[in-house]
Amino acid sequence: MNHKPFPRLLGAMLLGLGLCGAASAAQSTPTIKSIELPVSNRVFPGDSAGAKAANAYCLMCHSYGMVETQPTLSKAAWLVEVSKMKHAFKAPIPEDQVPVIADYIAQLKGAH
Ligand code: HEC
Repeated sequence: MNHKPFPRLLGAMLLGLGLCGAASAAQSTPTIKSIELPVSNRVFPGDSAGAKAANAYCLMCHSYGMVETQPTLSKAAWLVEVSKMKHAFKAPIPEDQVPVIADYIAQLKGAH
């Protein structure tokens, strides 16, 4: 019986493993040291009570960008708009947060 093919096969397998190891080592060498992510406008800016409430109760359906690109409205109109989200579209906004959010958005997107 000739046993020679087995060691040769084993040698080829080890060589293969060695090459794979070398290839993955080359891949993990970082060539880009830093990347710049695009500026996100998904969340409402700031950390006021209004910003926190808007982030808590509006983002489940829209990004901030969607609101940001709306036409400017008066404070009263934003109150109607936020109430519409609550009552027509069933946004789970606590009643006392509706004017807080409307005031905040009127500061960002208010008609002067
Ligand atoms: C339960 C999901 C839901 C939540 C939460 C929600 N909205 Fe909406 N919103 C909608 C739907 C549905 C529409 C109408 C369809 C569309 O334009 O995508 C809409 C439309 C809008 C519009 C476009 C104008 C209009 O009346 O159609 C604005 C502005 C808006 N929402 C603001 C807000 C703000 C601010 C909040 C947080 C207070 C909010 N939404 C929370 C579902 C929601």
